[in-house]
Amino acid sequence: MNNDEVDDDSGPFVSQLHSGNSYLSFQEAQISSTMAEERTFIAVKPDGVQRGLVGDIIKRFEQKGFRLVAMKFLQASEQLLKQHYIDLKDRPFYPGLVEYMQSGPVVAMVWEGLNVVKTGRVMLGETNPADSKPGTIRGDFCIQVGRNIIHGSDAVESAKTEINLWFKPEELVSFKSCAHDWIYE
Ligand code: RTP
Ligand code: MG
Repeated sequence: MNNDEVDDDSGPFVSQLHSGNSYLSFQEAQISSTMAEERTFIAVKPDGVQRGLVGDIIKRFEQKGFRLVAMKFLQASEQLLKQHYIDLKDRPFYPGLVEYMQSGPVVAMVWEGLNVVKTGRVMLGETNPADSKPGTIRGDFCIQVGRNIIHGSDAVESAKTEINLWFKPEELVSFKSCAHDWIYE
């Protein structure tokens, strides 16, 4: 391979290095039009907080390449939790679920990235930790369905509803990660 071929084959990379702005802005436009910056709501439940698993859980989302958009540590009110799980209000475990979620502070987060809702659910594992494979968060860190340490939105629409319920618009922080172009092609 001679020098001319190197220049031809690595055109975009060379132009990124030499005249970065024009290439990067084109790439960013492509990414924003195809990815639509999907977001999900993730919460470390009171048992996850009490057991010191907050760092491990955040680390998995960071390592995967998802971007943190918002995070807060709070004691959630009964009203907030009842609303959060409103779709389950007729299930027999609903009162116990609200009580469990109110039994201590939680870490509420918004994560962003390509297919983050679906991939986030895969990273969490099944609702029942007994059905969760090793390598998933629930598969690795918990045993029973009533103490399954983490919540994740189950669809793009429910993620939007949950994010609006837990966060004010001004609490959602947009920034471009310096790793972005090493995570997305
Ligand atoms: P989450 O909303 O917390 O992410 O959990 P999920 O989608 O995997 O499961 P979902 O059906 O939405 O249930 C919400 C939470 O309720 C508790 N649960 N207990 N005792 C039971 O049979 C039972 N079933 C569900 C779990 O804490 C579950 O995560
Ligand atoms: Mg759910």
